[in-house]
Order: sequence, then C-alpha cells, then structure tokens
Amino acid sequence: MELREVIGRRRSIRFLLPYKPVEPEKIQRMLEAARIASHWGNVQSLRAVVVFRDSATPEALEALMAPIAGFQIRLAPVVIVWFLDTSAVDEQSDRLRELLKVGALGFGEGKHKALEEQLIPVFQSITDKLKEPGLSEVDCGQGIAQATLMAFEQGLGTCCLGTPHTEKIRKNLGLPDTARVLLLQTVGYPAESPDAGGQRPRQPFEKLFHMNAFGTPFPRSKAVVEELKNDQLLQDPAPKPWREAELEYLQKALGIKGHGLL
Ligand SMILES: Cc1cc2nc3c(=O)[nH]c(=O)nc-3n(C[C@H](O)[C@H](O)[C@H](O)COP(=O)(O)O)c2cc1C
Repeated sequence: MELREVIGRRRSIRFLLPYKPVEPEKIQRMLEAARIASHWGNVQSLRAVVVFRDSATPEALEALMAPIAGFQIRLAPVVIVWFLDTSAVDEQSDRLRELLKVGALGFGEGKHKALEEQLIPVFQSITDKLKEPGLSEVDCGQGIAQATLMAFEQGLGTCCLGTPHTEKIRKNLGLPDTARVLLLQTVGYPAESPDAGGQRPRQPFEKLFHMNAFGTPFPRSKAVVEELKNDQLLQDPAPKPWREAELEYLQKALGIKGHGLL
C-alpha cells in the first residue's frame, strides 16, 4: 500500500478483539518507527512503557483505567504509555555534537568551534525553557504518528487516549520524576470493519490553511483533490449507512454497557 493510501485509510479504532494478543514484534516495529522520527536538536525525548494485559501487574493495569476510556482500555491487549522525558534535554549538547560528526549539521573549518562556542551556549542558557511543554510535545507527536501508521500497516488498530491519572501512572509504572505522561495508545486487532464507518469529519481545508498571511485561504486545487481521492488519501466521509447497525452489533458482541462514550 502506498503511503497516501496508508494515511487515508488509518482510523482511530475503538473496538478491538479482546482475545487476540498482539505479537511483540509488531509493537517493536511501531517503536522502531517512533525512534527514527524527527526531534528538535535530535534530543529524542519520546519514551514509552508497553503494557501487555496478559503479563502486566494488577497495579500497572489499574493505573491505566480512566473514566473516559473505560471500555477501550478493558478491550485492548496492549496499551502503550507514551511519555516525554525532559532529562533528554540535559544531553542536548552531545546530540548536537553527534549531528555535526555525521555531517548533518554545519560545514567548513570553523564548524567545531562555532558549535562549542556559539550554538551550544545558546541552548544551554535556555535549558529550563526547553523542558517546558511545547516543542518537544510536537516532536513526540511525530514519533507517535509514525508508530500509528506502522501499526496500521501491520493490520493493527490503535486509538490515542488522554488520561487524567498521570501521577498514578508515574507511580505504578515506576516512571522517573522527569517524565511527563503524554497519552495512552490502545493497540490490538480491530473488531470493527477496516474503514470503521468511513473517514471522520474534518474542518474545511480553507478554514485551516492560509497562504502568505492569515485570512487568505490556501487555494485548494480540485485536480489535486481528485488525484488524492483516486489514491485513497481522501475517502468516503463517515458515516456509512450501516454504521449504527455495526455499532449496535459491536456493543453486544463486546459486552459494552451504556452509551460507549465513556
Ligand atoms: C492526542 C490524542 C488524544 C485523543 N484522546 C482520545 C480519547 O481520550 N478518547 C477517544 O475516544 N479518542 C481520543 N482520540 C481520538 C480522536 O478522537 C480521533 O482522532 C478523532 O475521533 C478522529 O478520528 P480518526 O483518528 O479516526 O480520524 C485522541 C486522539 C489524539 C491524537
């Protein structure tokens, strides 16, 4: 499958087969994809603890349960706890030296001196600022996105979930004090149809993207839209006519109580 189609077909999958375990090799491929994602200064602050429902301690599993994702966590054979380790910023000078060494950064005679005497001191003077929420979260998001596409490519379904229980997760999983819990990602084999009822609604292109200045919509070429429909990046919008029936079926099959929102 071409990258365009992978991007177009990926969905957040909330209904997973609870009885089908996920091979650790498939999770490893997700983590490998996350590891090579781009990060400012090559700092690599994205970390994860992968919790396998079949082998994790009761404390670890209990920390994952959250009121707004109850049934999703219960169904998932695997939950990836993605977190950001701010201590990675302390090693940033070394990451820059590595980049210079491999020819990714700078050129010419004076490059080592410029790195040590100009660039590194600039970063060192704002280390605390760089640990604050912001740029690093963006980088972690890039890693998680790559892992998500890798999961899809291997036939897995995933859903990112926010959690209010970050302190409990830190304690029960033994995360360092420098960790900032980002999100939980459920992983398993989909119980729902692969297109999960169609491509989910998005805001109009012209509202989101601008050209040269805010307020001038980026021109959206109809020809490009047609091309991307052909390539399956843009797909039939949700809902498919049978989606409500599918949801009812899933609710019964998976024993989900109530409205399935929480
Ligand atoms: C950072 C992040 C947090 C999310 N948190 C939740 C959540 O707590 N519960 C949930 O059901 N879906 C959650 N989602 C999934 C979104 O609601 C989902 O992306 C949206 O419904 C669009 O669907 P799609 O991903 O299939 O295109 C989250 C997604 C992201 C990226």
